[in-house]
Amino acid sequence: MSPVRVLLFCFLCTSSCASELRERALRLMARDPLIDGHNDLALQLRILHNNKLSHIRLYNLSNVATDINRLKTGRVGAQVFAAYVMCTAQEKDAVRLTLEQIDVIQRMCTSYPDLELVTSAQGLEQSTKTACLISIEGGHSIDSSLATLRMFYQLGVRSMALTHTCNTPWAESSSNIYSFYPKKNQSLTSFGEAVVREMNRLGMIVDLSHSSWDTARSVLEISTAPVIFSHSSAFAVCQHNRNVPDWLLVMLKEKRGLIMVNMHSGFISCGEKGNISVVADHFEHIRKVAGFESIGIGGDYDGASKFPDGLEDVSKYPALIQELVRRNWTETELAAILRRNFLRVFKEVEKVRDRQSSQPPSEAEIPLADAANPCRLILTRPVSGSVFRDASSSNVNVLTCSVVSSVLLPFLLLLLLLLLPTAV
Ligand SMILES: *[C@@H]1O[C@H](CO)[C@@H](O)[C@H](O)[C@H]1NC(C)=O
Ligand SMILES: *[C@@H]1O[C@H](CO)[C@@H](O)[C@H](O)[C@H]1NC(C)=O
Ligand SMILES: *[C@@H]1O[C@H](CO)[C@@H](O)[C@H](O)[C@H]1NC(C)=O
Ligand SMILES: *[C@@H]1O[C@H](CO)[C@@H](O)[C@H](O)[C@H]1NC(C)=O
Ligand SMILES: [Zn+2]
Repeated sequence: MSPVRVLLFCFLCTSSCASELRERALRLMARDPLIDGHNDLALQLRILHNNKLSHIRLYNLSNVATDINRLKTGRVGAQVFAAYVMCTAQEKDAVRLTLEQIDVIQRMCTSYPDLELVTSAQGLEQSTKTACLISIEGGHSIDSSLATLRMFYQLGVRSMALTHTCNTPWAESSSNIYSFYPKKNQSLTSFGEAVVREMNRLGMIVDLSHSSWDTARSVLEISTAPVIFSHSSAFAVCQHNRNVPDWLLVMLKEKRGLIMVNMHSGFISCGEKGNISVVADHFEHIRKVAGFESIGIGGDYDGASKFPDGLEDVSKYPALIQELVRRNWTETELAAILRRNFLRVFKEVEKVRDRQSSQPPSEAEIPLADAANPCRLILTRPVSGSVFRDASSSNVNVLTCSVVSSVLLPFLLLLLLLLLPTAV
């Protein structure tokens, strides 16, 4: 527009040029489409459709906040999809359920021409479609096994949150709604350190959302690659234990990591309601404490139910960028939080991997006592014969396992569904 027309336009446009701001936001997002750090559509596909993709068309889905058309409207250039399984599957079939979620994300992202599954920073950078990345949400998914972690990497998983709302035998959650492995202030056991080192060696991004602050501190101390909080907001603005306090933000900045701001009202305004202005306050606070180089966006759509007015689903991201434009965020800052910060972190994680390419895979094992549970078959060395034997008295333990599963699991699943709005 010519200066005269801009003046005229602004004169006519009473709300401080809202449509001009929106155009600038859309222009920025066309150049640097958003990389969204966290989305739970795959969980909804399981709950609502039993993962039967043939029953739905992904362009427009009802009862969820994510579909292809709305990702496009929202200028989402890449979406990290969580392969999440409930904590109640810990010690049971968490690994199978995780495989099923990876499978549904892979099928979704390879069967629609608008989507593309990527597994490298270069693939992400060069994709002209809506790129999909796979993450795991909760260390219970690897059942305390580095071999399982490595196989997930081979299946395309490029990040893992160390915990969800339950402790694992080796890391601590920010939540205490489950009683698994009660906290003993073992924020990260030596096996937990081995998990982090193996993720560094593989080139898998360590995600600290849902971990306790002590665990996050321990990881920041030992990780040789930058880490992320894929969907957490600022504790100083909303005092929720899922958010990140200033002292951790400072550590995160020193380690060149990233906090991808969560849009869920519960973490934005610590309540049912919220608005874009409070979301922008989180961005401004984090910029003040840790700089714009430490910020990304991880909406948590379909993992939570309450979102601020004007940010109800993935199509609404331009409204957020518009508000930050209004608050005079520069083009450099906005390009960074939309996309470039995540690309930088991913590339650094890959560089750390490449530097260690001569390192053999870790054969660290969790101490038996730490992971003993009735469903775990424990093999011991043969005493005299040549076959391994089951160290547990198998009849008793297998029975316990199946009784727990068949009687308690439906009940626990029901409980989980009731708890779902808080379990984000
Ligand atoms: C659903 O998406 C398809 C493909 O983009 C489009 O042609 C169709 O009009 C949409 N339907 C509704 C009800 O929005
Ligand atoms: C846990 O241990 C760490 C390191 O020893 C310590 O700094 C922290 O305060 C402890 N946290 C709790 C909750 O006791
Ligand atoms: C947004 O919410 C905050 C806190 O509830 C409130 O103080 C503020 O007035 C709201 N802002 C707008 C623009 O609605
Ligand atoms: C943005 O910058 C302009 C020009 O410097 C200034 O007038 C305006 O008050 C600033 N807006 C905000 C929200 O800081
Ligand atoms: Zn979550």
